[in-house]
Amino acid sequence: MTDRTRERRHAFGEDPEQYDAGRIGYPVQLVEDVLDFAAGAGTAPALEVGAGTGTATAAFARRGVPVTCVEPDARMARVLSLKCAGLPGVSVEIAGFETWQPGGRRYGLLFCAQAWHWVDPAVRWTRAVAALRPGGALALFWNHWFLDDEELVRQLTGAHARREVEIPRHTLLDPRPRPAHRGFEARQWREMEAHGGFTDLDALRGRDRPAPPPAPLVGRTPCACGRRRPLLALSP
Ligand SMILES: C[S@@+](CC[C@H](N)C(=O)[O-])C[C@H]1O[C@@H](n2cnc3c(N)ncnc32)[C@H](O)[C@@H]1O
Repeated sequence: MTDRTRERRHAFGEDPEQYDAGRIGYPVQLVEDVLDFAAGAGTAPALEVGAGTGTATAAFARRGVPVTCVEPDARMARVLSLKCAGLPGVSVEIAGFETWQPGGRRYGLLFCAQAWHWVDPAVRWTRAVAALRPGGALALFWNHWFLDDEELVRQLTGAHARREVEIPRHTLLDPRPRPAHRGFEARQWREMEAHGGFTDLDALRGRDRPAPPPAPLVGRTPCACGRRRPLLALSP
C-alpha cells in the first residue's frame, strides 16, 4: 500500500455530514442475499469493517443483526453513532482493521461496504479469517454506476465512434460485462482466491434505481443507477 493511499483513506472524515448526505444506500435485497449466504454460521453478531457513517450498518441493524463497527475515523463514527442510536446492538470501535483488537471475539459474518480496498492488502485476508467463526461468511460490496438514459448512451457512443475513439474499459459507457475476475473488484477477487482461507467464493450483481441523495451530488449524477456486487466467501 502506497503512502498516497494511506493518506487518501482518511479523507472521508473531512466532511462526514456531506459524505453521508451524498452517498446512496444499500438495497434490502443486497442485505437479504448476504444474510442468506451467511445463514449457515449464524450471522449474529456481525462485524463491519470501515463502517463510515453507518449506511450499511443501519441496513443490517434494521434487519435485527447486531453489528460491531470498526471505523478508524472518529468524525465518521460520530455520524454513525447518531444514525444508529435507535437501533439495538450497534457498537462502534475506533480503529483501522489492521490494528483492531478482537480480544477473542469471533463473528458469523464480516461485511464491508465500499471500504475493503482501503485496508492493507498484506493483512486484510488473514485478519478476516481470524475474526470469523468456522463457517463464517465474508461479504464485500461496492456500488457501480451506469447510465440509465438510453438516448444519452446512444449519443455519447456515437460521438466516440465518429471520432474513432475506443470507449475506455470500465467507464460508464463500457458495454462489456464486468465479472469479478476482470472488473473493479478483480484485485480483491484474485487475492481472496489466492489466500486459500475461504471456500464457496461467489460474486453477485444486483441492479436498481436508488433514490437520489439530497446532496449536490444529485446534480452530477441525474441518470446514474447503482449496481451492487457482493463478493462472498466462507471461512472453512
Ligand atoms: C468509502 S467509505 C465507506 C463507508 C461506509 N461503509 C459506506 O458504505 O458508506 C470508506 C471507509 O473506510 C474507512 N477506512 C479507511 N481505512 C480503513 C482501515 N484501514 N480499516 C477500516 N476502515 C477504514 C474510512 O474511514 C471510511 O469510513
